[in-house]
Amino acid sequence: MNEDEKMKHSTRSLQAMRDRGEPIVMVTAYDATQAAHAQAAGVDMILVGDSLGMVMLGYDTTVPVTLDDMIHHAKAVRRGAPHTMVLVDMPFATYHQTTADTVRYASRIMREAYADGLKLEGGKKIIPHVQALVQAGIPVCGHLGLTPQSVLQFGGFRVQARELDAAQKLHDDALQLQDSGAFMIVLECIPSALGTLVTQSLTIPTIGIGAGDACSGQVLVYHDVLGLGMHLRRPKFVKTYAELGEKAISAIRTYKEEVKLHEFPNSDYRYDIAENTISSLSKHPNREEKS
Ligand code: KIV
Repeated sequence: MNEDEKMKHSTRSLQAMRDRGEPIVMVTAYDATQAAHAQAAGVDMILVGDSLGMVMLGYDTTVPVTLDDMIHHAKAVRRGAPHTMVLVDMPFATYHQTTADTVRYASRIMREAYADGLKLEGGKKIIPHVQALVQAGIPVCGHLGLTPQSVLQFGGFRVQARELDAAQKLHDDALQLQDSGAFMIVLECIPSALGTLVTQSLTIPTIGIGAGDACSGQVLVYHDVLGLGMHLRRPKFVKTYAELGEKAISAIRTYKEEVKLHEFPNSDYRYDIAENTISSLSKHPNREEKS
């Protein structure tokens, strides 16, 4: 059985992985090609993160990303990875108005992109919204710690919950999200010992990104795994498995040089036509008239 023929994961099968201690692997993807790579590699889940604002659209933060941006990219990911569980981020300020608004925005992502679940950043404050989505039958993943949509409030991308109060709050938020029906929680950029404690306190899976190795699984951003983000910062928690950005620049430079030197396209890259067709063409009456 190849990776494309495997059964798509569900909230139940992910819970079973967590219960038997099998790490869950998630990677972000933002278009059909990236999604196809992730599916072919056999990851358990794909996240269409609103990090697309930074790695695909060139914004400094995820704040400018819109609902339409998320749907546009999530549809492409769905087409590229039809057999992989796809989680989609609800973007900035789309789950902070009425719970009816939240369900309406969430339903658009679920219906238009055939998403398998949604991820929301935050704890106690968003609990009514999580409950409303769960009641509507939508699988919800929480996200605590360094929640990038609040980066302007945090004053930058920095490690969270190092002090007792903040660590206690994060632990309480995780329990509340679980009680509200979240099926999973992403923990981003927090001390490893806190990642371990929260994971042990919960019965649902945790997915870490800079939260240590005790989490039930890990997530990394596609561009970070592949070393594609020339202009992007690389936090300490990122492991880069290939330097494709450098390879891309070198390949494009070689292409440029070959064109300038008339080395490309050589005969390997040209289409043939019978010699007499071309000579007849040059004698065509329309051509003669013009000349
Ligand atoms: O937007 C994103 O890519 C994320 C991951 C970093 C967890 O939320």
